[in-house]
Amino acid sequence: MVTAPAIADEILDLKNRRNAIVLAHHYQAPEIQELADVIGDSLELARAARKFSGDVLAFCGVWFMAETAKALNPGRIVVVPDRNAGCSLVESCPAASVREFRRTHPDYAIVSYINTSIEVKAESDILCTSRNAVRIVNSIPPQQPLLFLPDRNLGNYVRRQTGRENMKIWQGACVVHDTFTARRLVEARMEYPHAAVAAHPECPESVLALADFVGSTSAIIEYCAASDAREFIVMTESGVHYSLTRSAPGKRFHFVANEHCNCSECPYMKLNTLEKLRDALDTLEPRVELSEEIAARALAPLERMLAVQ
Ligand code: 13P
Ligand code: SF4
Repeated sequence: MVTAPAIADEILDLKNRRNAIVLAHHYQAPEIQELADVIGDSLELARAARKFSGDVLAFCGVWFMAETAKALNPGRIVVVPDRNAGCSLVESCPAASVREFRRTHPDYAIVSYINTSIEVKAESDILCTSRNAVRIVNSIPPQQPLLFLPDRNLGNYVRRQTGRENMKIWQGACVVHDTFTARRLVEARMEYPHAAVAAHPECPESVLALADFVGSTSAIIEYCAASDAREFIVMTESGVHYSLTRSAPGKRFHFVANEHCNCSECPYMKLNTLEKLRDALDTLEPRVELSEEIAARALAPLERMLAVQ
């Protein structure tokens, strides 16, 4: 147990009184994950939000994930511990630029990664996450020209996996994954020669080319648990370490520092703390509020994604 007991008790009590659940992304600090009702990657958390039937949903992740949960729960309260928990991918893709693309390319379908603002989702034909991006693109007729946004590394990965030529790719990037380098990965492989390499598709192609496995956060955890290897170099956010040690006890995990912070932490995800979660459940702020019109338009591509098996 790593949680400060007094705050943990307060949170459990508030969860009861508010008829609330806590959803947490794998990148959250261990003490937050310990109190979560569901821990997952962005697809699993969207699915959990869709099933939710209580009154208050406390979303421990980043803002776009909480917006997604709110679009799926328009009549319920959705709070986040820290309003500033953003995402560099969201910032790279303003809705006005997407609307301009739509105006100048009316024949294109827009496939948006879930790491976008609710306004960009509202401009999209279908959403995807890192877990289902290849499946989503393959579900679209091959002759249909596509814009994939905003992550260039995930977009290029999907293009390589699907062989899809008629796909334009937005040039956004994740500040954490895009700054992992092949040089540092090669150094790590020299240090841990028996380790298998698992990487998130937001990493550059030069890193993915050296990986034994490429997949979403939860897919990486599943791979490490199922693999015969005992040791792994994990090219993603280091919060995953907590879930990895729970799913694959006894195995060893090494994280590689990126060029952005010389670490492997998402600065946005790490803004959330146990104290802020307690306060959010207490005050019901910061609360996600969406325009009804935007939320309804964003819900259509979100539901289209959730319908793809
Ligand atoms: P996952 O869908 O793999 O959880 O990815 C979300 C994310 O923000 C990765 O940086
Ligand atoms: Fe966004 Fe990257 Fe942080 Fe994920 S790790 S929330 S993509 S900045």
